[in-house]
Amino acid sequence: MELRMSTTAELMLNGRKWSLPIVEGTEKEHAINISSLRDQTGLITLDDGYANTGSCQSAITFIDGEQGILRYRGIPIEELAANSSFVEVAHLIIMGHLPTHEELRQFSDLLTENELLNEAMKYHFEGFPTTAHPMAILSSMINAASCFYPELLHEGGRSTFMVQAARLLSKVRTIAAFAYRKSRGLPIIYPKPDLKYTANFLHMMFSQPYQDYELKPEAVKALDLIFLLHADHEQNCSTATVRMVASSRANLFASAAAGVCALWGPLHGGANQAVLEMLQQIHDSGDDGSKFIAAAKDKNSGKRLMGFGHRVYKNYDPRAKIIKKACDDLLARLHISDPLLDIAKHLEAAALRDPYFVERKLYPNVDFYSGIIMRAIGIPLEMFTVVFAIGRMPGWIANYKEVMEAPTRIYRPRQVYTGAALRHYVPIKDRR
Ligand code: SDX
Repeated sequence: MELRMSTTAELMLNGRKWSLPIVEGTEKEHAINISSLRDQTGLITLDDGYANTGSCQSAITFIDGEQGILRYRGIPIEELAANSSFVEVAHLIIMGHLPTHEELRQFSDLLTENELLNEAMKYHFEGFPTTAHPMAILSSMINAASCFYPELLHEGGRSTFMVQAARLLSKVRTIAAFAYRKSRGLPIIYPKPDLKYTANFLHMMFSQPYQDYELKPEAVKALDLIFLLHADHEQNCSTATVRMVASSRANLFASAAAGVCALWGPLHGGANQAVLEMLQQIHDSGDDGSKFIAAAKDKNSGKRLMGFGHRVYKNYDPRAKIIKKACDDLLARLHISDPLLDIAKHLEAAALRDPYFVERKLYPNVDFYSGIIMRAIGIPLEMFTVVFAIGRMPGWIANYKEVMEAPTRIYRPRQVYTGAALRHYVPIKDRR
């Protein structure tokens, strides 16, 4: 029989007792609301990495890490992956419901209307060295793009939110493709109004002047699925960053640019690039993965099994299951046999039998197989995290909207001070 959760938690300290309210979520998950803790007790909480701390109440995405459940606005990721598209899921995540035919047409038209960059932005790309990482370019150019929309800077662009959201979601793809082309010394390829979101991205990435890239439907579908599976993931590091910046009432583009920077780290969105580098290193060393797994278990090696483990999932990441199957399907359809996929599968099988990984509940996450698909499509390694950022844009936009619409206080965590006790200024002549 399910234990009925109490509506308050009692805190006993120094012979005194305080009551703190319990908050219940849609899926009966519970939290102790400590908003009054410091006023009541003078104490704060401390939680390294916020592993036990909820920063907000949100209606966008639900994850059950123990069950391996992921739902966007209540709809299971497996159903969306099987039936939907990235643009339809972007509408679901941002607006809260699956679009009607008319709503989808309007949203898609808005993305098409906003796919071009202001022509003056072309010259910004000239200033980057060809070796610049595209995540640095992406973050810079998202803020640069905001300069062409002064209305964004007033009242956070609330009155024109959907246009701003469409501008950001559409242009992030154009900026990414232009950054890639510039890094290769190639002429930029403009978007084509008759192409849908993901096909247009591949066109801008790989077409040549007067010779369009051959859009293989299976490649377009696989990349669209990658975008869809990355679209949101509750309060991960980069989304929490977007909410942090949004809470100061900064504009949507500034908040998204901050999200790009947080996503770049190898422990977060940068992991998909790190997984391929790891697989390539294992392949080049002739190791079957055993040596690498041994190193990943050795704290002194500084190595981790990239693409494995997750703060929330203590079960298989449902997205990894879907991507692994899409990987097999795509490589079979493209008649590609990739030794790195074989190594990845061997690593997964070995790790899932190894007590080190089993005891710590470390399973493949979304990044473990996604890079193999991107490699099969021809997307270069340094663009992998950029693809993740494009996919995550709807989630960042929806979280920004949620902060703007709720009476959110500015995010300002407290701390426990462990520095020097009171001391006084010493003139340099007296210092030793
Ligand atoms: C994403 O939050 C999200 O939702 C993120 C994301 C999203 O969609 O936004 O899902 C996308 O970022 C996926 C994660 C991508 N990162 C990687 O694949 C990098 C490798 N994984 C890890 O570094 C790690 O698992 C994290 C960062 C993902 C989670 O880190 P935690 O929750 O802080 O866990 P931890 O570092 O405290 O590890 C717990 C234990 C430690 O060992 P002990 O100290 O208990 O002995 O597990 C070990 C860790 O050393 N461990 C690993 C490991 N991950 C954790 N050991 C080897 N290889 C790994 N990959």
